[in-house]
Amino acid sequence: MNNKIDESFEKTRIAGSIAAGALDEVAKIIKPGITTEEIDKLCYEYINDNGAYSAPLFYRGFPKSCCTSTNHVVCHGIPSKKNLKDGDIINVDVTALKDGWHGDTSRMFEIGKISIKAKRLIDTTYNSLMMAIKILKEGIHLGDIGATIQEHVEANGFSVVQDFCGHGTGESFHCAPNVLHYGKKGTGEKLKSGMIFTIEPMINSGNYETKILNDGWTAVTKDKSLSAQFEHTVGITKEGCEIFTASKLDD
Ligand code: MF3
Ligand code: CO
Ligand code: CO
Repeated sequence: MNNKIDESFEKTRIAGSIAAGALDEVAKIIKPGITTEEIDKLCYEYINDNGAYSAPLFYRGFPKSCCTSTNHVVCHGIPSKKNLKDGDIINVDVTALKDGWHGDTSRMFEIGKISIKAKRLIDTTYNSLMMAIKILKEGIHLGDIGATIQEHVEANGFSVVQDFCGHGTGESFHCAPNVLHYGKKGTGEKLKSGMIFTIEPMINSGNYETKILNDGWTAVTKDKSLSAQFEHTVGITKEGCEIFTASKLDD
């Protein structure tokens, strides 16, 4: 690989590991009774302590350091004084900006004992992301990613959100290409080695439609059904990809 790609991968690797580390810290403390503001504070401090900046903070006016999206919230939930309760599911989405480069990742957390359906939604969402990551390499089409996710999700009776997508990332938080989580194999741009982008499927247990609440940020399912999401930042290589935001806890 050329030097420019080496540098962008190395910088994103560092930012990505800080973002993943923040979620590893969240995993240690998250439980019934905790507020989403406490999660936000932990993410802010961990990212800061690692010499990075929380990219969501003040991004287009977003007021907090991470997004906390509970139950029927699809994405961009704003941390608040509300307590998490037994049976809730929550996505925590963090982005570390380190040395000019971004690492963007999110995971689901189970609060206490969750329903079998919620568990199945979380597992299906995670598996759809990992199945898409498995096919990544130079030469495949963007549409192959969306098709892989959509096929798995719909086979399990769930639906793919269409109003939000993955995105190129690097020195900008969000840039081209748009990475749709639905679509047709063999369509769209071909991947080239050196590309860095996120895949971040949002999957609903009911209908795919969403709406934005009056705070201007919080996206929820229109039918109030549960929604889940996982996100990784990945870099494309000739043979496959590198996951920059993998958890050290998974080693
Ligand atoms: N981290 C989100 C993403 O995956 C973006 C959050 S932007 C914010 O792209 F302003 F809502 F924080
Ligand atoms: Co993202
Ligand atoms: Co994100």
